[in-house]
Amino acid sequence: MRGWAAALASWALVAGVAASAAPGDVPRIERRDGRHALLVDGAPFLMLGVQANNSSNYPAMLPQVWPMVERLHANTLEIPVAWEQIEPVEGQFDFSYLDALLPQAREHGVKLVLLWFGTWKNTSPGYVPAWVKRDNARFPRMRTKDGKTHYALSPHGEATFEADRKAFVALMRYLKDHDPDHSVIMVQPENEVGVYQQARDYSPEANRLFAGDVPAALAKQTGKRGNWTQVYGDNAEPAFNAWYTARYIDRIAAAGKAVWKLPMYVNAAVGGPFAPPGKSGGASGGPDWQVIDVWKAAAPNLDAVAPDLYTRDAKDYLKFLDHYARPDNPLMVPETGNAVDFARFLWPTIGRGGIGWAPFGMDGTGYYNYPLGAVTLDDATIEAFASKYRFLKPMARGWAAMALAHPGWGTAKGAPDAEQAKVMGRWRVSAKYGEWQFGSMDSPWLKAAPPATATQPVGGMAVLQVAPDQFLVTGTDVRVNVDLADKGKGDTAMFIRVEEGTLADDGRFVARRVMNGDQTDYGLNFTAQPMLLRVTMGTYR
Ligand code: DGJ
Repeated sequence: MRGWAAALASWALVAGVAASAAPGDVPRIERRDGRHALLVDGAPFLMLGVQANNSSNYPAMLPQVWPMVERLHANTLEIPVAWEQIEPVEGQFDFSYLDALLPQAREHGVKLVLLWFGTWKNTSPGYVPAWVKRDNARFPRMRTKDGKTHYALSPHGEATFEADRKAFVALMRYLKDHDPDHSVIMVQPENEVGVYQQARDYSPEANRLFAGDVPAALAKQTGKRGNWTQVYGDNAEPAFNAWYTARYIDRIAAAGKAVWKLPMYVNAAVGGPFAPPGKSGGASGGPDWQVIDVWKAAAPNLDAVAPDLYTRDAKDYLKFLDHYARPDNPLMVPETGNAVDFARFLWPTIGRGGIGWAPFGMDGTGYYNYPLGAVTLDDATIEAFASKYRFLKPMARGWAAMALAHPGWGTAKGAPDAEQAKVMGRWRVSAKYGEWQFGSMDSPWLKAAPPATATQPVGGMAVLQVAPDQFLVTGTDVRVNVDLADKGKGDTAMFIRVEEGTLADDGRFVARRVMNGDQTDYGLNFTAQPMLLRVTMGTYR
């Protein structure tokens, strides 16, 4: 074998995945050593997503969607498909929207994640067809504690499940027939499921189930036997609703996968990341962090549960990322705010091996999602996201491949400590914000005002440890340092070599220049222009 071919082949063996994309391969999640990658066309793929507004799922709206996808340099569009849209009359399906969407996605070279707005959309049945909305006898809504009709459909309604399942299977059959090359890379069955205002259905059937013992799978998982209150205490009602909601959706996902096997995840309307059991405040029954274990037991056909993150508090955001980045759960943020201050959270997401991230409300229809998102999508707001996507898009496969193979970390400005740090092997990687580009602000001899970024909500970084003494570091508006974790042994850390460059699809680093002097004397200075550094460390004494 020639040198480069041998190197490539040996890398492919180490990484254990195809080194190059094979169009038409079924998308799937690869799990290895507690890390994950989304494989698209047979190779790792980092989803740099945007989500369109809720009512942009009509052919007439698509001309106002694509220009924003392009301006943002996204490689994936998340967009709804509504049950009311494809089955306006029971048993009669209309896929004219997908007839328009799929070819347009191919023309734009953009992958799709379809959001199935069915029984639950932000917990409500707003997107079910009129024939479901009108028939509460056949499709029961939950009951309140005092026996009144609640707004949400009940997860105990078997006829509702059966009707939703049939429609979802029709959608997956359409994809099987019309998307052989897999423009659609993932499907989200339902949207922000569960219920608000009460913790569960209080119908006689639900009360009977709640008084009974927890299912065997949960007794095994928790090591506890008994009824819901005995096993889950203060979290009993959310856990109960989570089990039955997850089982309902898992059976829908299984039926869809039996026809066309795509990765599937369910998004969560999360509550507080530090709340005590049962008090998180998210939608009860959805895959909020306190009931991820219940969802894992109840829904083996789902590849992930994924948090929608609209908190602007970095401490909370990072805690949510840590809750959902689990060896049994690929991290993905299917929705996040589209205001400038959210853009920096891309870095800790991909540092934790996140397979995808998507700001919500990104199209030209004039809806921006304030106060959860931007007041307006002005040039500066778009650029906060576009600058990062423009930089990452060419190396999206390479980063995903390396994040599958190597441990990582990431952080963002506003996390609790002024200097955030992570010990990786014998090294301590740290991040600081609001530093001058050159010099250190705690230097006794250099006095000047802090830079403008010191008070702006910008700054974040992601790092992968690709060898014991070597890191890939990327980010914006941050100073990164690498030092020995244990400095007591008489050795002093030094940069042996810092290279700036990009990643090939297979993860190989492709250097553009060597960074030195002002660019490394005070640490690794990341400006507003994203960059990727390969940092080789050493010591002297
Ligand atoms: C979360 C939902 O999942 C989205 O569909 C949308 O309604 C946003 N909230 C709006 O903030």
